[in-house]
Amino acid sequence: MLPTLETLEAALGGLAGRIILLRADFNVPLDDDGQITDDFRIRAALPTISWLTEREASVVACSHLGRPQGKVERRYSLAPVQAKLRELAPSVDLLENLRFDPGETANEARFTQTLVEGCDGYVNDAFGASHRAHASIVGPPALLPSGAGRLLTTEVEVLSGLRHKPKRPFVAVLGGAKVSDKLGVIKALVEVADEVVIGGGMCFTFLAAQGHGVGKSLLQQDQLEACAELLDAGAPIRLPTDIAVLAPGDRVVQAGVDLRSDWQGLDIGSGTAAEFSDLILHAGTVLWNGPMGLFEDARFASGTVTVAQALADSGAFTVVGGGDSAAAVQQFGLSAAMDYVSTGGGASLELIQQGDLPGLQALRESVANQQASRQG
Ligand code: 3PG
Repeated sequence: MLPTLETLEAALGGLAGRIILLRADFNVPLDDDGQITDDFRIRAALPTISWLTEREASVVACSHLGRPQGKVERRYSLAPVQAKLRELAPSVDLLENLRFDPGETANEARFTQTLVEGCDGYVNDAFGASHRAHASIVGPPALLPSGAGRLLTTEVEVLSGLRHKPKRPFVAVLGGAKVSDKLGVIKALVEVADEVVIGGGMCFTFLAAQGHGVGKSLLQQDQLEACAELLDAGAPIRLPTDIAVLAPGDRVVQAGVDLRSDWQGLDIGSGTAAEFSDLILHAGTVLWNGPMGLFEDARFASGTVTVAQALADSGAFTVVGGGDSAAAVQQFGLSAAMDYVSTGGGASLELIQQGDLPGLQALRESVANQQASRQG
């Protein structure tokens, strides 16, 4: 069992006047002027922050932003997040980007020690970063009474629930560019889902594995064998039956799945979009991760919009697994119509795939440590 905020409160005998180190995932998208373009991850940490501050704890928050490689880089400063927090949770202090110190990603004990200095307890609410065995994620639970924040607890409940007790039929809709990024999760999902529906750039490697011509579409040669193996094993995978392609002369053409050598597939076709929608509308549970095409280009957004709308209209329990698909539902104004939108990109995939994350393990071991020392 994961220790909760209540576990932490009990371990400390109350929170009033206590200093709590809160690891959040404030890795938010910024535009060229350093303005936050989507504050979803900041707002998602607010229930935990309110819970702590209502009990008169002092909250010292910390997070990474981007991948600054262990040195200070102004464009990765958390200053814009700090400004937002001043609006939303004025009493919270925020440390500067954890990844400005190489000790964060290297999980150095020295760095963990500086983080926990002066703190009485630790809360991990950084679901999106809990697949990283970094200092701020796995270090503090070994040193301080610890608990999972509300966001982390909910993410784990929802995403683990997909593996353990999905309402059927369970339809997983997967997209995105690269098969190599998703193969692990596809393999995990074909074991639990009734249908694994594949679109996005990665469908072309599967189609090529079936012997179809994919023209100039994205193709990962080194993944062909793995895709063929899955298909040959009879995995419940459903691939597109038509494609929207970019043809010479900048023409957009609806085609079958055997593409001419000078065509580039950039979206699922309208027939496929209708087929996928039908599955979504009749599902008991739907997990969606990854766009169906190049939705940033209006000419190739239709597959992704149709799938998003089907999720919004479906009576199924609908879960959007972070990253680009969360950005897509936000862009289409459909976030509120989903049952759950995860804040995790890589973390949600890894949790579905492996059933556990380094950050969760560290929290569980923290409780075990406390119990052992109480008994000893
Ligand atoms: C994310 O955006 O998925 C998380 O914040 C993790 O970021 P990372 O992939 O740079 O570790």
